[in-house]
Amino acid sequence: MHDPARSAPWDAVRPAAAKAALYAELAGRLEALLAGEADPVANAANAAAAIYHGLDAVNWVGFYFLRQGELVLGPFQGRPACVRIPLGKGVCGTAAAQRRSVLVPDVHDFPGHIACDTASRSELVVPLLAPAGLLGVLDLDSPRVARFDEADRAGCEALAVVLVRHLLPPRR
Ligand code: SME
Repeated sequence: MHDPARSAPWDAVRPAAAKAALYAELAGRLEALLAGEADPVANAANAAAAIYHGLDAVNWVGFYFLRQGELVLGPFQGRPACVRIPLGKGVCGTAAAQRRSVLVPDVHDFPGHIACDTASRSELVVPLLAPAGLLGVLDLDSPRVARFDEADRAGCEALAVVLVRHLLPPRR
């Protein structure tokens, strides 16, 4: 029987080099979009929109920021999501606690996955590491199993480098 969640998306067969080019282009677009603005909320909002609309087969793209020892929902595109995630919980909390990207080909196989949108079937979470420490995470969800691969991980980690520079809290 046809299962859209498992059908081979064209992204899945896109060569790694093509994905690298896509992410390099997206990184350039983000840099141009964010460079003129210092407000981190405005930049996170525009970044979420640019990434969401720049990638295929994603149903949620957004930020969780570290606030007093837990992750708190930031700007995003997609369905309303859970607001607070303790460090170490779910995919986001795991990526934040371990300061590393977490690639989940099938969320049903990730113990403790927090289901915000039941349509989500695979997920990629990348930490936002500033020189002074963890800012939060960038979270991407897809309705397709195994939508994200190592090329997406590398690409999103490159996006995170750009994002961190434009999401730092304002100096007081
Ligand atoms: N699935 C995430 C929660 C956030 S939503 O996907 C937007 C997790 O397990 O951390």
